[in-house]
Amino acid sequence: MSETTVPVSRRQFCAGACQAACGATFATLFSACGGSSPTSPGGMTTTLGKVAGQFANSRVQVSVAGSALADVGSAVLVESIAGVFLLARTSETAFTALDGVCTHQGCTISDADGATFVCPCHGSRYNRNGQVTGGPAPASLRQYPTTFTNGVVTINV
Ligand code: FES
Repeated sequence: MSETTVPVSRRQFCAGACQAACGATFATLFSACGGSSPTSPGGMTTTLGKVAGQFANSRVQVSVAGSALADVGSAVLVESIAGVFLLARTSETAFTALDGVCTHQGCTISDADGATFVCPCHGSRYNRNGQVTGGPAPASLRQYPTTFTNGVVTINV
């Protein structure tokens, strides 16, 4: 009778066992570091401040004085009867306004990660121009023209 197994040296066995153990350890470490994925909803995000917008004549107006829009680079979530908008200050006199409804499944985009808008539902990410930069969102956010006069931003919806 003959054996069909291939003999394995003690050195080969130990090397294989070490590789398996190291692989399992790294897998555990990387899974514990979850959130590093650009599509993860558990990343380092902050909740945008909310500002009330006044709607009239197809325009939503937002007063900048005393709001979180005082600094260039800041952004807020504007709530109005015409809908929700992501409003960001790009210079002393310029703002960008985006639809605040995620194109994935319609959640309100209420979070930010630096200059990136983040949907809290499944982690879709959009840049300040509304383009998708990560996550399951299938399309960009609609952008609306804005004007800035006498401390008031007007979003033309
Ligand atoms: Fe925004 Fe799913 S609804 S990522």
